[in-house]
Amino acid sequence: MPDTTPADLLAQLTAAERVSLTAGADAWSTRPIARLGIPAIRLGDGPHGVRKPHDGSGMSMFDSHPATCFPTAAALGSSWDPVLVRQVGEALGREAAGHGIAVLLGPGVNLKRTPVGGRNFEYFSEDPHLSSRMGGAWVGGVQSTGIGASLKHFAANNTEQRRYGVNAIVDERALRELYLASFESVVIDEHPATVMAAYNQLNGSHCTESAWLLQEVLRREWGFEGVVVSDWGAAWDRTVSIPAGNDLAMPGLGARDDDYVLDALRSGAMAPDALDASAARILALVSRHAGAAVDPVDPPDLDAHHRLARRASAAGTVLLKNEGTLPLPAGSRVALIGAFAADPRFQGAGSSHVVPTRVDTLLTSLGDALGVDSVVYAPGYDRTHSVSTRTQIAEAQDAARSADVAVVVIGLPEVFETEGVDRDHLRLPESHNRLVEAVLSVNPATVVVLQNGSPVELPWRNEVPAIVEGYLGGQASGSAMADVLVGAAEPGGRLAETFPVAYSDHPVSLLPNGPVTVEYRESLYVGYRYFDSVGSDVAFPFGHGLSYTSFAWSDVAVSTDADGDVVTVQLTVTNTGDRAGSEVVQVYVHDVESSIFRPEQELRGFEKVSLEPGAASRLSIRLDRRAFSFWSPTARGWVLEPGRFEIRVGRSSRDIHWRGTVELGGDGAPEPTRPTALEGSTGEPIAYRSPSRELGFSAADFEHLLGHPSPPNIPARPGHYTLDTAVRDMQGTAAGRVLHRYLARQALKTIGAPDGAPVDAVAGDVVAQLTFRMFPTVSEATVGRRGALRLLALVNRLSGIGRRRPRDGGGTGR
Ligand code: BGC
Repeated sequence: MPDTTPADLLAQLTAAERVSLTAGADAWSTRPIARLGIPAIRLGDGPHGVRKPHDGSGMSMFDSHPATCFPTAAALGSSWDPVLVRQVGEALGREAAGHGIAVLLGPGVNLKRTPVGGRNFEYFSEDPHLSSRMGGAWVGGVQSTGIGASLKHFAANNTEQRRYGVNAIVDERALRELYLASFESVVIDEHPATVMAAYNQLNGSHCTESAWLLQEVLRREWGFEGVVVSDWGAAWDRTVSIPAGNDLAMPGLGARDDDYVLDALRSGAMAPDALDASAARILALVSRHAGAAVDPVDPPDLDAHHRLARRASAAGTVLLKNEGTLPLPAGSRVALIGAFAADPRFQGAGSSHVVPTRVDTLLTSLGDALGVDSVVYAPGYDRTHSVSTRTQIAEAQDAARSADVAVVVIGLPEVFETEGVDRDHLRLPESHNRLVEAVLSVNPATVVVLQNGSPVELPWRNEVPAIVEGYLGGQASGSAMADVLVGAAEPGGRLAETFPVAYSDHPVSLLPNGPVTVEYRESLYVGYRYFDSVGSDVAFPFGHGLSYTSFAWSDVAVSTDADGDVVTVQLTVTNTGDRAGSEVVQVYVHDVESSIFRPEQELRGFEKVSLEPGAASRLSIRLDRRAFSFWSPTARGWVLEPGRFEIRVGRSSRDIHWRGTVELGGDGAPEPTRPTALEGSTGEPIAYRSPSRELGFSAADFEHLLGHPSPPNIPARPGHYTLDTAVRDMQGTAAGRVLHRYLARQALKTIGAPDGAPVDAVAGDVVAQLTFRMFPTVSEATVGRRGALRLLALVNRLSGIGRRRPRDGGGTGR
């Protein structure tokens, strides 16, 4: 990079050069400007490992340079350990630098609005406080190495179904208090180099085209000074997205794709200021990060990174249940059952997929820990097809009968859970459930180990004495799980999301998803905020996780500073057991008297502490005014209503050990105006004041809450498809079906799936979500913007041919 400031450089650029900076050179790089010595920088996936395809500019997911596969965000989120997540971030930054990647495309901090989201494994939590602390630690760690982060996917990107065009309708409070809150403190405190604008629409605008989201909230309110980059293919028209605040459109579609932007500049249809601002930000990004990626001080120590991945995986492992079976006593004879023990599922499918540097299996690692002769293995089911033969079950039972303990390893195979597709249930493969029951019937000392990226129904959970949730724990998850089972490491995790008893208990399971909009009718009642407000049973609550040791809490005290601005919770935690272990102290706030609806309680602080046996530590958890405030749509800001708040300190949202009350003064501002949407004749809508399954969240209540009608949610008719219509919604016509088949074949080629890869089975579902907006990107610019519009017109013209009734008008996915 030349020794000139970005502002000076900008002044030397022609209009064409400025435009050229606002789109990639290819799938991963920015455009260089050789004449002025401005280099290109490379961006690369992703959140839990570095993915750099061997073919440089290609999109292959399977043929990339080996990199450490760290635990997925689902596992890291369960660690509740920002210090550890920061270390993982540092390691990721070092590996990115080693691969010449200047901006790493992560972390994902979207909330897990529903447990069926196909990308939930890439996200930390259903709670914004936890999610933003973890995301902030990740960004801080990566950026400490000089590599930039890309906070994604901004915003309300919570469903994979019709993910490129769906319109998320979110009321202002839910948006501010939950979905934006998950990004806010990361932006303000950690200054990520880039923020990635999501594919979806939010309240009627594509995120890449929403000046409200990108300029007003992100830049003006939160002070973001970095680059907004589009998700891959999300910026359709730069003459719209640049003025809205999306600086960089990725991937690039070739130099010819600049012409329409230049034309708009020349004709005055696009003002030059917005372009200049974007180009300046991109120059600043390049100048700040180019050096770090080409000149790493030390090559990464991959052995050390593997050890870190192992420690992080154990730290995110959640001991859901333990009736004394774990840790396995020394000398135990173990039947290790389940093909996942030998061929683990340790990462999610999709753009975050990395080629690991090595993989530890539980089979080898448990053999190493206990002695190979003490471990008898039986696969129990077919890894690819998730079916069991009678012989496999009989072998598993034989192994279990002659062992002290049976460890059954089950979970979700790739085809159940991937980027691009949501689930429509929370069930494990039937064969996995049957295997657990068959083994349990011959050996009551059965431990179930889970490998999955998001919650599953556990129908046998009351009968099985021990259950360990390992999530998708990265390449060292096998050795980490062996460490946990034998007690060499403690299960450090606590659930960062609720495990419902059944999917049908979840409010979102009852709400429509598509074909055009997704109404977030449950508003603030997401995850435990819903279950705790309703008081219904859950399988395992938010925050839950057992330890191998025990802790006592004493001298809990709550104080408020003189200005009433900060509430501090202090307590002493003592390890009263005989092993080292960690405790996660969680602080929830319940608003005792409120003029508006609020969830029963909300997580506002936490602290994880590791203690040797007998050791004690005094913790101090600070809650600022924001912890007690709500977003007022009428005041257009955060409002703290004067009154009493109950502070609840617990080990999970359902295991509260201490309660105390603080009285806080209001904002000193005039009495807060009550949000208009809640000023119906009977006050606020009853469904929101006391949500209940019987009442559900009705369309009418939701509109009352929005304060205006919700946009129509009617499938596009054949002949009237738009740039936002998903291919899945064109299946009623012959043209739509032909298109679908063609896209599925192309997609497998583009991502370089090896024959028989599990993605085969879901490729059809993944491409069914595509819209014509995505065609330039998925065709790698073979079809340009004009071509995509022509194709759309053609499909509309042909849509009278071979018409069938649509397969579904909405549905909930797979
Ligand atoms: C994903 C992003 C990812 C990008 C590049 C998109 O489809 O949504 O998360 O970073 O591709 O692979």
